[in-house]
This record gives sequence, C-alpha cells and structure tokens, in this order.
Amino acid sequence: MKITIIGTGYVGLVTGACLAELGNDVFCLDVDQKKIDLLNNGGIPIHEPGLEEVVARNRAAGRLQFSTDVAASVAHGCLQFIAVGTPPDEDGSADLQYVLAAAKNIGKYMTEFKVIVDKSTVPVGTADRVKAAVQAELATRGDASKFSVVSNPEFLKEGAAVEDFMRPDRIVIGCDSTPEGEKAHGLMKKLYTPFNRNHERTFWMDVRSAEFTKYAANAMLATRISFMNELANLADQVGADIEAVRHGIGSDPRIGHSFLYAGAGYGGSCFPKDVQALERTARQYDQDLLILRAVEAVNDKQKLVLGQKVVKRFGEDLSGKHFAVWGLAFKPNTDDMREAPARVLIKQLLDGGATVAVYDPVAMTEAKRVLELDLTAEEMARIRFATTPMDTLTAAEALVIVTEWKAFRSPDFDRIKSSLKQAIIFDGRNLFEPEVMAEAGFEYHGIGRSILTRV
Ligand SMILES: NC(=O)c1ccc[n+]([C@@H]2O[C@H](COP(=O)([O-])OP(=O)(O)OC[C@H]3O[C@@H](n4cnc5c(N)ncnc54)[C@H](O)[C@@H]3O)[C@@H](O)[C@H]2O)c1
Repeated sequence: MKITIIGTGYVGLVTGACLAELGNDVFCLDVDQKKIDLLNNGGIPIHEPGLEEVVARNRAAGRLQFSTDVAASVAHGCLQFIAVGTPPDEDGSADLQYVLAAAKNIGKYMTEFKVIVDKSTVPVGTADRVKAAVQAELATRGDASKFSVVSNPEFLKEGAAVEDFMRPDRIVIGCDSTPEGEKAHGLMKKLYTPFNRNHERTFWMDVRSAEFTKYAANAMLATRISFMNELANLADQVGADIEAVRHGIGSDPRIGHSFLYAGAGYGGSCFPKDVQALERTARQYDQDLLILRAVEAVNDKQKLVLGQKVVKRFGEDLSGKHFAVWGLAFKPNTDDMREAPARVLIKQLLDGGATVAVYDPVAMTEAKRVLELDLTAEEMARIRFATTPMDTLTAAEALVIVTEWKAFRSPDFDRIKSSLKQAIIFDGRNLFEPEVMAEAGFEYHGIGRSILTRV
C-alpha cells in the first residue's frame, strides 16, 4: 500500500521503516531539512536498536523515501499518518499546533480520498479538530474530495521500538461509522493484516475511545511507578527492602511484575506530558483527577531523591567535591534526554558546588545539547564528558547511577573501588544487591533499600 508518514521522529521513522519492511511503499515527510538530509545520506537521527538496518534495507529496496516536499507527500499515500510531536503547552495541555499544521497541509493538497491517521498521542476530540482543519482547506479550494480521520495511537517503547512495532501486544484503531469511516476501516484492516496472522491483535473502537486508550495506558503505567517510588521512600524510613516487597506483591497475578521498579523517577517524552495532558482534559470538563495529580507530584519529588541522598551523605556544600555519574538518557537503549532524571541530578550536584564526570553509552551528544540549554556556561565548565564509565571515576567521592543500562550491571567492582576516592555508590535504579555491595566493601545507597543500615 502507498503510505505517507508526516513527522519522521521516533514514532514516524519507526512506523515508516517497519511498514516499508512489510512491503509497503512509504514516503516519510519532515519539516526538518537537516533530519531529511541525514536520512537521505544513510544516517539515522536517533538511537534505536535494529532501526538502522531496517531503514537501510528498505531505502535500498526503494520502499522508503524521505523528503520535505509537502505536496508530493500528500499525493503519495492514500493513508496519511500524522506522527508529529504533541509537546505540552504552557498549561500542560497537548500542544496541537503541529498536528493541525499537518492536517492543514493535507487539506491544502489532497485531490482524492484520503485516510488521515492520528498516530501522535492526542487528546480526546482531536480527530474532530483534524477533520475541521482539513475540511476548511478543502472548502477554500472548493474541492469535494472525501476523507476519514482515524485514531491509531502508538504504544511502542523507545529502546525496543522496532520490536514493539513489529510484534505489538495490541493495535488500537478508532474509526467512525460514516461511509468514509467504513472505507477507512477496510484500508486499516488490510494494512495491519500481517500483524494479526498469529492471532487477532486489533481492538476496533470509536475514535474517542481510541484517543482515550493511549492516555489511560500511559497514566496507568506512570501511576505504578509513582506508587512504588512513594513506597520505596517509606521503605527507606522503616528499614524495609522495596525489592523484596516488589517480588512479594508482583507475584500476585492481579498485580503482576511489570512496571513496579522504584527508582529515580520517570522521564521521557511520553509519561510526563501525557499525565499532564489527561489532567488538563479532565479540568476542561470540571473534573479533578486526584490520582494523576499525585502521580505527577510524586514523580517531581522522586527526581530529587538521588541528589538528596548525596547531600545527606556529603552535606549541603559540595564545593571541591567531584562525582561520577553513569547514565544520562531517561532510560536504557535510547539517546532520548527529554525529562531525564539525570538532568535534575546533575543540576543538584552543580548547585551544591560540585564538579561531575558523566558517561552514557549512547546519549553523550544529545546530553551535551540539552545540558547546554539547561545550564550556564560556568556550570557546563564543571561537567566533564567521559569516554568510558571507568574514566568518570578518578578522584570522585562517589559513583551515582541514574540509568539502568545493561553495561552497568556487572562492572569491575575492584576497579571502581580503587578508582573512587571513597567506595560509595548511589544507585538510582537498584541495580545491585545491598548485601553483595557491603561484602565487596562498598557503602551502598539504593532507592528504598535501607535494610542495610538496619543490619
Ligand atoms: N517517543 C515515543 O516513545 C512515543 C511513543 C508513543 C507515542 N508517541 C507520540 O507520538 C508523537 C510523536 O512523538 P515522537 O517522539 O516521534 O516526536 P519527535 O519529536 O521525535 O518527532 C516529531 C517530528 O515531527 C516533525 N514535524 C513537526 N511538524 C511537522 C509537520 N507539520 N510536517 C512534517 N513534520 C513535522 C518534527 O520535525 C519531528 O521530526 C507524539 O504525540 C508522542 O506523544 C511517542
């Protein structure tokens, strides 16, 4: 099938590449000329396991093209996927300017039937606004072309995006019941048939329910994280081990093991903004989502916990002290630094007067870019970007771990001990066992694992 993807970011690029992999003829559009040039020169703008190979294979096969040509993009696909960003507006609601600009472009150039697929995460009711934007452009030109707006939210996880897209748990599609909606239903069904061969994974619903489902999913996941973080802080106080508690509750099938990890708070491009946007939608309907307000407040506090543990151990004044930081991306297997807890931790250490040496397996360039936005030149001068994890440790008072990269899980502890000034680890992701660390001669500070200080 001929498909256009509008917005070649994490979601757009993965969607485009994976749909091309299934044999579709895909046209990826972006307004960012640099990004398109990079892709056309064989580069990849993001780190995502397996993506580079899929993009290269499908470009070579002629099934995947990248362009900034709006008119050509509209002419190409019968299915027009909108996968542009929906960042938070100043009041926390989803900023729909990019989605509506994409819709306007479609209306401006389309001359035949189109299915417009909202893949971006958009608040309930957005499909109606997309429809109105397209219709207004068609009316200006006096064009009577028909179209349907479909909601098909994306559930991929950064760091496993290709795998998630190719083997989805579920595909959510919302269509309306107009004749155009029926036609769109048929085309979407055809597009997703290869994903349903083993068993049916598609949940068909109305457009508003599909839009809502995406927010409900992210809100639930963020809730589990904040719940565990709040309990972890209490566990620290009462001398319990949150990891033991996690196993103890996760084995109940009604609870399950997933997404129960205490840590340094959630970040990324989705949970923070989607929780906020859902709260904002509720407020528009005079409803206060008390749980989600708490989820957000707990997370904001949690991002400070690691730095507070450092301050508690070394005192408010960190001047003259140096710290090693492992992990900058908001989670492993990505270079995404959006809302990353490491940004908060680094700022706390610098505010205390410290210097830091930082390392991340893939996010170094992106980290430098965002930290330059966050920090002053004087603060930036107190950060050293190291080339290996071990290279961060020299003369450091302690090692602080913020992201749970696999490469950090079994490090050479003897080397860490001999490189650090003091054998102290602050582990924001509970990678290690307190008892094992104690035996290895480390002073170990996890999240919700203060059992060590009790024994
Ligand atoms: N990143 C994720 O893990 C993830 C997962 C599921 C859903 N989502 C949702 O998908 C959407 C996109 O997220 P993302 O992380 O891919 O964003 P992104 O910022 O990585 O990419 C968005 C791209 O859209 C381009 N763009 C903006 N306006 C455009 C226009 N008018 N025409 C063409 N291109 C345009 C930008 O230049 C950018 O390259 C968001 O709504 C997000 O919430 C993201």
